[in-house]
Amino acid sequence: MSNQTQTVRDGFSSRLGIIAAAAGSAIGLGNIWKFPYITGENGGAAFILVYLFCIALIGVPVMLSEFVIGRRAQKDAVGSFKTLAPGTPWFFTGWLGITAAFIILSFYGVVAGWTLHYLYLAISGGLQGLSAEQLGAVFGGFISNPWQPIFWQVLFMAATIAVVLGGIKNGIERYSKILMPLLLVILVILAIRSVTLDGAKQGMQFLFSPDFSKLNVEAILAALGHAFFSLSLGMGAMITYGSYIQKKENLGATALQVSIADTAIALIAGLAIFPAVFAFGIEPSAGPGLVFITLPNVFGQMAFGSVFAILFFALLAVAAITSAISILEVVVAYLDDEFSWSRTASTFTVGVAITIVGAILSQGNGSLADLKLPFLLNGELIGMNIFDWFITLSDQLLPIGGLAIALFAGWKMAKKDIADELSSSGLWKIAYLEIYRFTVRIIAPAAIAFVFLSSIFGLA
Ligand code: PHE
Repeated sequence: MSNQTQTVRDGFSSRLGIIAAAAGSAIGLGNIWKFPYITGENGGAAFILVYLFCIALIGVPVMLSEFVIGRRAQKDAVGSFKTLAPGTPWFFTGWLGITAAFIILSFYGVVAGWTLHYLYLAISGGLQGLSAEQLGAVFGGFISNPWQPIFWQVLFMAATIAVVLGGIKNGIERYSKILMPLLLVILVILAIRSVTLDGAKQGMQFLFSPDFSKLNVEAILAALGHAFFSLSLGMGAMITYGSYIQKKENLGATALQVSIADTAIALIAGLAIFPAVFAFGIEPSAGPGLVFITLPNVFGQMAFGSVFAILFFALLAVAAITSAISILEVVVAYLDDEFSWSRTASTFTVGVAITIVGAILSQGNGSLADLKLPFLLNGELIGMNIFDWFITLSDQLLPIGGLAIALFAGWKMAKKDIADELSSSGLWKIAYLEIYRFTVRIIAPAAIAFVFLSSIFGLA
């Protein structure tokens, strides 16, 4: 059977390839753009602690569950549930994932477009010699311009579509393997420069000495939602990638390594950004523009700063693409597997549809800024522009998807099937089996349900 599966189903060719692709999905704008700005908005160290807790307690087991489901079923996010639990409504979980993928990629493409624009600015020297205040004005002017963000978003989405058209081995795997390690090197250099700036100390305190009075329910939901977002969980991306992982690979080790890599990159990004935020007198709660305003200041203080600026934005765009392809792949694999669409037809159709929605969303920062949609948060209806509305919605959809996935792996799948999958039919020792099962049966679902309900209805 495995021979047949491998000829019919495209897959990852090597161990490094899987790690690189799954880490490539996990590591992206979530780590370098979103993590710093939500940390800034939610007060720093205490928020980070809650985030780390969510990663360890909920993220890692849910990632493992996604791998198990996908590799066992050898199917897309919807088909996996239909295969493993035929005739039951569990496949709704997959549908929810498809919806989330659509929503996430529409705003993701917009932000990735910002990074391309900044790459262009870095190359053309447009960021040089500007003060923090001027850089803030550059960012604000750019995102509120009606056309510029769309231009860059379309360019990014076209690149994403091109890679997904190439398939798994030749597209996704090949690029991730080289470029992700390079991103790490650049980030470490930036972090070193940032922590050695005059006035960096306050930033270190912000990152490392927790003030729990700054935590509220919304911050905890943001931490949970971001744990899912950053690890690419809750919408079937890791189910889909799991279906491409060879039978002999150790899923537990893979989930752990990917989660550690993802978390490390986020923390290093925090180190690159917050010391500089305080050193340059930028507001930590500046919102989505934080990285785009802060780092150009750091480049300005470095030898060869403009070279670093170019490298950084280029690699950030690459990190964004390896994530974006995994999001698009969720929908593409679904159409290919369930409706026998050709890869070309599904990639184009879905890619273009998402690009159009994203272009509309981008106007939430400019021409449609006054259009507010209601969102139920903490028992209150809050008005948000369409761009923020989609981001906040994804913070809720992913944990719901993750809850269903944990319950499925914990209660619906037979223990012997889980054990067989985790051990690759006896090849690997799985001392963690009981702990894993207890977590996905009880701990993760209870924690997600609690955070979720309290954040919506304001119970806590
Ligand atoms: N994890 C990616 C990032 O951090 C985004 C993503 C979310 C990818 C959900 C796939 C699924 O940028």
